[in-house]
Amino acid sequence: MSDQNAQSSHDHGIAHPLFATLYDRLPQSALLAPHRNYLVDDLSGRVLELGCGTGDMFPFVADATPTAFEYHAIEPDPHMRTRAARTADDVGLEVDLRDARAEALPYPDDSFDVVLASVVFCTIQDPDTALEEVVRVLKPGGEFRFFEHVHADGWRGTGQTLLNPVWERVAGGCQLTRETIPRFVGHDALAVEEVDRLEFGLFPATPFVRGTVRRRRNGLLE
Ligand SMILES: C[S@@+](CC[C@H](N)C(=O)[O-])C[C@H]1O[C@@H](n2cnc3c(N)ncnc32)[C@H](O)[C@@H]1O
Repeated sequence: MSDQNAQSSHDHGIAHPLFATLYDRLPQSALLAPHRNYLVDDLSGRVLELGCGTGDMFPFVADATPTAFEYHAIEPDPHMRTRAARTADDVGLEVDLRDARAEALPYPDDSFDVVLASVVFCTIQDPDTALEEVVRVLKPGGEFRFFEHVHADGWRGTGQTLLNPVWERVAGGCQLTRETIPRFVGHDALAVEEVDRLEFGLFPATPFVRGTVRRRRNGLLE
Protein backbone atom coordinates (compact mmCIF):
# COMPACT_ATOMS: atom_id res chain seq x y z
CA MET A 1 0.00 0.00 0.00
CA SER A 2 1.36 3.44 -0.80
CA ASP A 3 -0.05 6.63 0.69
CA GLN A 4 1.80 9.16 -1.41
CA ASN A 5 0.27 12.29 0.03
CA ALA A 6 -0.17 11.18 3.62
CA GLN A 7 2.79 13.30 4.66
CA SER A 8 1.68 16.43 2.82
CA SER A 9 -1.96 16.63 3.84
CA HIS A 10 -3.86 19.33 1.92
CA ASP A 11 -6.33 21.27 4.01
CA HIS A 12 -9.58 20.28 2.34
CA GLY A 13 -11.54 21.26 5.46
CA ILE A 14 -12.96 17.73 5.39
CA ALA A 15 -12.33 15.97 8.71
CA HIS A 16 -14.92 13.94 10.60
CA PRO A 17 -13.07 11.88 13.21
CA LEU A 18 -16.20 10.61 14.98
CA PHE A 19 -17.93 9.64 11.72
CA ALA A 20 -14.75 7.85 10.60
CA THR A 21 -14.69 5.89 13.88
CA LEU A 22 -18.36 4.90 13.68
CA TYR A 23 -18.63 4.40 9.91
CA ASP A 24 -17.99 0.66 9.78
CA ARG A 25 -20.48 0.06 12.61
CA LEU A 26 -23.44 1.73 10.92
CA PRO A 27 -26.35 -0.74 10.45
CA GLN A 28 -26.54 -0.14 6.71
CA SER A 29 -22.91 -1.06 6.04
CA ALA A 30 -23.61 -4.78 6.57
CA LEU A 31 -26.28 -4.73 3.84
CA LEU A 32 -24.06 -3.34 1.13
CA ALA A 33 -22.12 -6.51 0.21
CA PRO A 34 -24.09 -7.51 -2.95
CA HIS A 35 -23.75 -4.00 -4.31
CA ARG A 36 -20.04 -3.80 -3.54
CA ASN A 37 -19.69 -7.10 -5.44
CA TYR A 38 -21.49 -5.51 -8.40
CA LEU A 39 -18.93 -2.71 -8.44
CA VAL A 40 -15.92 -5.06 -8.53
CA ASP A 41 -17.30 -7.62 -10.99
CA ASP A 42 -14.70 -8.49 -13.64
CA LEU A 43 -12.50 -5.47 -12.94
CA SER A 44 -9.38 -4.99 -15.03
CA GLY A 45 -6.90 -2.32 -16.06
CA ARG A 46 -6.38 0.90 -14.14
CA VAL A 47 -9.14 1.49 -11.59
CA LEU A 48 -9.87 4.58 -9.47
CA GLU A 49 -12.15 4.64 -6.43
CA LEU A 50 -13.54 8.03 -5.34
CA GLY A 51 -13.82 8.81 -1.61
CA CYS A 52 -12.85 5.35 -0.39
CA GLY A 53 -13.66 6.17 3.24
CA THR A 54 -12.31 3.53 5.61
CA GLY A 55 -11.60 1.17 2.71
CA ASP A 56 -14.82 -0.85 2.84
CA MET A 57 -14.48 -1.66 -0.87
CA PHE A 58 -10.96 -3.05 -0.47
CA PRO A 59 -11.84 -6.58 0.75
CA PHE A 60 -14.21 -6.96 -2.20
CA VAL A 61 -11.54 -5.78 -4.62
CA ALA A 62 -9.00 -8.15 -3.06
CA ASP A 63 -11.47 -11.07 -3.25
CA ALA A 64 -12.24 -10.38 -6.90
CA THR A 65 -8.54 -11.19 -7.57
CA PRO A 66 -8.45 -9.30 -10.85
CA THR A 67 -5.63 -9.87 -13.29
CA ALA A 68 -3.62 -7.11 -14.97
CA PHE A 69 -4.94 -4.65 -12.53
CA GLU A 70 -3.84 -1.43 -10.79
CA TYR A 71 -5.92 0.08 -7.96
CA HIS A 72 -5.97 3.78 -7.06
CA ALA A 73 -8.13 5.54 -4.48
CA ILE A 74 -8.63 9.09 -3.26
CA GLU A 75 -9.92 10.20 0.15
CA PRO A 76 -9.73 13.79 1.47
CA ASP A 77 -10.56 13.10 5.15
CA PRO A 78 -7.34 12.18 7.00
CA HIS A 79 -9.25 10.15 9.59
CA MET A 80 -10.88 8.04 6.89
CA ARG A 81 -7.64 7.77 4.94
CA THR A 82 -5.67 6.42 7.90
CA ARG A 83 -8.26 3.71 8.35
CA ALA A 84 -8.27 2.95 4.63
CA ALA A 85 -4.49 2.47 4.66
CA ARG A 86 -4.90 0.00 7.52
CA THR A 87 -7.67 -1.89 5.71
CA ALA A 88 -5.53 -2.17 2.57
CA ASP A 89 -2.69 -3.66 4.60
CA ASP A 90 -5.08 -6.04 6.40
CA VAL A 91 -6.50 -7.46 3.17
CA GLY A 92 -3.20 -7.38 1.27
CA LEU A 93 -4.39 -5.00 -1.44
CA GLU A 94 -1.85 -2.78 -3.18
CA VAL A 95 -3.51 0.64 -3.34
CA ASP A 96 -2.15 3.98 -4.52
CA LEU A 97 -4.08 6.04 -1.94
CA ARG A 98 -4.05 9.81 -2.35
CA ASP A 99 -5.21 12.82 -0.39
CA ALA A 100 -7.52 14.49 -2.93
CA ARG A 101 -11.07 15.59 -3.62
CA ALA A 102 -13.16 14.23 -6.47
CA GLU A 103 -13.56 17.79 -7.77
CA ALA A 104 -9.81 18.03 -8.51
CA LEU A 105 -8.47 14.59 -9.37
CA PRO A 106 -4.66 14.48 -9.42
CA TYR A 107 -4.43 12.41 -12.63
CA PRO A 108 -3.98 13.22 -16.32
CA ASP A 109 -6.79 12.97 -18.87
CA ASP A 110 -7.73 9.47 -20.13
CA SER A 111 -6.02 7.67 -17.21
CA PHE A 112 -8.49 5.02 -16.05
CA ASP A 113 -10.39 2.04 -17.45
CA VAL A 114 -12.88 2.10 -14.57
CA VAL A 115 -13.92 4.70 -11.99
CA LEU A 116 -15.89 3.49 -8.94
CA ALA A 117 -18.20 5.56 -6.73
CA SER A 118 -19.71 3.86 -3.69
CA VAL A 119 -21.96 6.02 -1.49
CA VAL A 120 -19.86 9.08 -2.21
CA PHE A 121 -21.79 11.38 -4.57
CA CYS A 122 -24.08 12.03 -1.58
CA THR A 123 -21.16 13.64 0.22
CA ILE A 124 -18.99 15.27 -2.46
CA GLN A 125 -19.44 19.04 -2.06
CA ASP A 126 -19.67 19.86 -5.81
CA PRO A 127 -21.03 16.77 -7.61
CA ASP A 128 -21.22 18.45 -11.05
CA THR A 129 -17.52 19.33 -11.01
CA ALA A 130 -16.70 15.85 -9.70
CA LEU A 131 -18.61 14.24 -12.57
CA GLU A 132 -16.67 16.38 -15.08
CA GLU A 133 -13.50 15.09 -13.46
CA VAL A 134 -14.70 11.48 -13.77
CA VAL A 135 -15.31 12.03 -17.49
CA ARG A 136 -11.92 13.69 -17.90
CA VAL A 137 -9.88 10.91 -16.26
CA LEU A 138 -11.79 8.02 -17.88
CA LYS A 139 -10.32 6.61 -21.06
CA PRO A 140 -12.70 6.71 -24.04
CA GLY A 141 -14.85 3.60 -23.61
CA GLY A 142 -14.02 3.47 -19.89
CA GLU A 143 -16.69 2.61 -17.30
CA PHE A 144 -18.06 4.65 -14.45
CA ARG A 145 -19.71 2.27 -11.96
CA PHE A 146 -21.72 3.65 -9.07
CA PHE A 147 -23.89 2.74 -6.11
CA GLU A 148 -25.47 5.80 -4.46
CA HIS A 149 -28.40 6.75 -2.29
CA VAL A 150 -30.66 9.39 -3.80
CA HIS A 151 -33.58 11.68 -3.00
CA ALA A 152 -36.79 9.69 -2.49
CA ASP A 153 -40.23 10.52 -3.88
CA GLY A 154 -43.33 11.39 -1.85
CA TRP A 155 -43.41 11.60 1.93
CA ARG A 156 -39.95 10.07 2.30
CA GLY A 157 -38.48 12.77 0.07
CA THR A 158 -40.22 15.45 2.11
CA GLY A 159 -38.88 13.86 5.29
CA GLN A 160 -35.36 13.81 3.85
CA THR A 161 -35.57 17.51 2.96
CA LEU A 162 -36.65 18.36 6.52
CA LEU A 163 -34.06 16.09 8.10
CA ASN A 164 -31.14 17.07 5.89
CA PRO A 165 -29.76 20.02 7.92
CA VAL A 166 -29.33 17.77 10.96
CA TRP A 167 -28.29 14.69 9.00
CA GLU A 168 -25.43 16.43 7.16
CA ARG A 169 -23.97 17.48 10.51
CA VAL A 170 -23.95 13.97 12.00
CA ALA A 171 -23.17 12.02 8.81
CA GLY A 172 -19.96 13.65 7.63
CA GLY A 173 -21.62 16.10 5.22
CA CYS A 174 -23.86 13.48 3.54
CA GLN A 175 -26.85 14.97 1.66
CA LEU A 176 -30.15 13.08 1.56
CA THR A 177 -31.54 15.08 -1.34
CA ARG A 178 -29.10 14.45 -4.18
CA GLU A 179 -30.71 13.93 -7.64
CA THR A 180 -27.91 11.68 -8.85
CA ILE A 181 -29.66 9.73 -11.63
CA PRO A 182 -30.40 12.74 -13.92
CA ARG A 183 -26.88 14.03 -13.30
CA PHE A 184 -25.23 10.80 -14.51
CA VAL A 185 -27.71 9.77 -17.19
CA GLY A 186 -27.99 13.28 -18.60
CA HIS A 187 -24.28 13.82 -19.23
CA ASP A 188 -23.54 14.16 -22.96
CA ALA A 189 -20.21 12.35 -22.74
CA LEU A 190 -21.64 9.27 -20.97
CA ALA A 191 -23.64 6.42 -22.48
CA VAL A 192 -25.89 4.38 -20.19
CA GLU A 193 -25.11 0.67 -19.93
CA GLU A 194 -27.49 0.02 -17.04
CA VAL A 195 -29.10 2.02 -14.27
CA ASP A 196 -31.36 0.49 -11.61
CA ARG A 197 -33.23 2.31 -8.89
CA LEU A 198 -33.31 -0.01 -5.89
CA GLU A 199 -35.85 0.14 -3.09
CA PHE A 200 -33.05 -0.70 -0.75
CA GLY A 201 -31.71 0.83 2.45
CA LEU A 202 -32.90 2.15 5.76
CA PHE A 203 -34.65 5.50 5.96
CA PRO A 204 -33.41 8.19 5.65
CA ALA A 205 -30.63 6.92 3.32
CA THR A 206 -32.89 5.26 0.74
CA PRO A 207 -33.57 4.51 -2.12
CA PHE A 208 -30.36 3.67 -3.95
CA VAL A 209 -29.33 3.76 -7.57
CA ARG A 210 -26.80 1.35 -9.01
CA GLY A 211 -25.38 1.23 -12.48
CA THR A 212 -22.72 1.63 -15.12
CA VAL A 213 -22.25 4.40 -17.66
CA ARG A 214 -19.48 4.46 -20.24
CA ARG A 215 -17.49 7.38 -21.60
CA ARG A 216 -18.46 7.77 -25.26
CA ARG A 217 -15.75 7.07 -27.80
CA ASN A 218 -17.07 9.65 -30.23
CA GLY A 219 -18.61 12.00 -27.72
CA LEU A 220 -18.16 15.67 -27.11
CA LEU A 221 -14.79 15.26 -25.47
CA GLU A 222 -13.12 13.73 -28.52
C1 LIG B 1 -20.38 7.78 3.11
S1 LIG B 1 -18.64 7.72 2.96
C2 LIG B 1 -18.43 6.39 1.78
C3 LIG B 1 -17.10 5.70 1.90
C4 LIG B 1 -16.86 4.55 0.93
N1 LIG B 1 -16.91 5.00 -0.45
C5 LIG B 1 -17.80 3.40 1.12
O1 LIG B 1 -18.26 2.81 0.13
O2 LIG B 1 -18.05 3.01 2.25
C6 LIG B 1 -18.31 9.15 1.94
C7 LIG B 1 -16.83 9.44 1.79
O3 LIG B 1 -16.64 10.52 0.86
C8 LIG B 1 -15.56 11.30 1.33
N2 LIG B 1 -15.62 12.64 0.72
C9 LIG B 1 -16.14 13.78 1.24
N3 LIG B 1 -15.99 14.80 0.38
C10 LIG B 1 -15.35 14.29 -0.72
C11 LIG B 1 -14.89 14.85 -1.93
N4 LIG B 1 -15.09 16.14 -2.21
N5 LIG B 1 -14.26 14.04 -2.81
C12 LIG B 1 -14.07 12.73 -2.54
N6 LIG B 1 -14.49 12.14 -1.40
C13 LIG B 1 -15.12 12.91 -0.49
C14 LIG B 1 -15.74 11.31 2.82
O4 LIG B 1 -14.59 11.72 3.50
C15 LIG B 1 -16.14 9.87 3.08
O5 LIG B 1 -15.03 9.06 3.31
